[in-house]
Amino acid sequence: MSEKGSTKGRLPHGFIQALRNELGPGTRMGLNELVSRFTTLQVGGCADVYLEPSSEGELARVLNVCNVFGVHFYVLGRGSNALILDGGIRGLVIRLSHANFSAIDPHEERIHCGAGARLHQVASIAHKFGLAGMEFLKGIPGTIGGALRMNAGAMDSEMFEVIESIRYMDHQGVIVTRARQAIPHEYRNCPVLENNIALSACLVGRQDSAAAIAERMHRYLNQRKCTQPSGSSAGCMFKNPSGISAGQLIEELGMKGTRVGGVQISQKHGNFIINDRKGTAGDVLGLIQMVKSRAFEERGVQLETEVKIIGEPPQQFG
Ligand code: EPU
Repeated sequence: MSEKGSTKGRLPHGFIQALRNELGPGTRMGLNELVSRFTTLQVGGCADVYLEPSSEGELARVLNVCNVFGVHFYVLGRGSNALILDGGIRGLVIRLSHANFSAIDPHEERIHCGAGARLHQVASIAHKFGLAGMEFLKGIPGTIGGALRMNAGAMDSEMFEVIESIRYMDHQGVIVTRARQAIPHEYRNCPVLENNIALSACLVGRQDSAAAIAERMHRYLNQRKCTQPSGSSAGCMFKNPSGISAGQLIEELGMKGTRVGGVQISQKHGNFIINDRKGTAGDVLGLIQMVKSRAFEERGVQLETEVKIIGEPPQQFG
């Protein structure tokens, strides 16, 4: 177990020690850790405690300690759909990035994946084993856990189309397995995983030639490269409202290139906010608010962020 930093009395007395008592030697724990570096947008403050548990049993024990002390926890995936606020995150940030959570295990037409497995690796393994249907995952910068929570999608496909079953842990540490049909899901949301932690999933594909899979994968990647920017961003900032792509709407509002501080709306795709000059979460929030106001005032559209906004605004002194 490695750790550094201080939480400056923000956590209940005895909490850190109780947590330490449950952790094995392979577990990484950090105090007052800058978690923006675990997100693609690269903004935001520190988490009181950052933890990479090394097993499901350990995760369950950690949740129990949080329950006993009344400490809030948040599970971060690849951080590609997260905006962490500048005041940081009170309590615990958990990432299932340990190798024990990241296995990708193909067997005939199925692939068993841990929550920490990277989507692009899952797509590559599906290709290698001649399994079609997962090509769209190649360009999404996320993990299986995050993609389940968000029902991530691209190229007219979405995560739950390739899911056979998922396993998750509830906040009491109990593990549940459910078939896809028993898990309500919608565009960019899987409500069950708002309050439960995805542990793993069984994905199912169909046999196809490696050449046909590779052709689709390259076409999708190329389409993404032509239409989406490559700088630091959280992907699409807003969910598409009914009837129009948010990117097209933002373009029609003439807002491409609009800048607040260190961040700007991409010139390439209107639904991407790019952090190109060491921007802050405050800058991103400022731009989100400008877009929302203009969309509502000029087009009557209420845009909703797809990106999850987490943590606290910065403390004001004086
Ligand atoms: N468009 C514009 N201007 C723009 C952006 C788009 O006119 O600045 C137009 C395009 O020309 C096209 C239409 O809007 O006619 C749709 O654009 P695009 O194909 O880029 O798709 P999108 O709806 O903007 C969605 C997903 C993306 C996913 C792409 C490709 C959402 C919010 N976004 O974008 O997902 O990669 O389709 O399949 O559903 C994400 O969720 O983070 C994400 C990037």
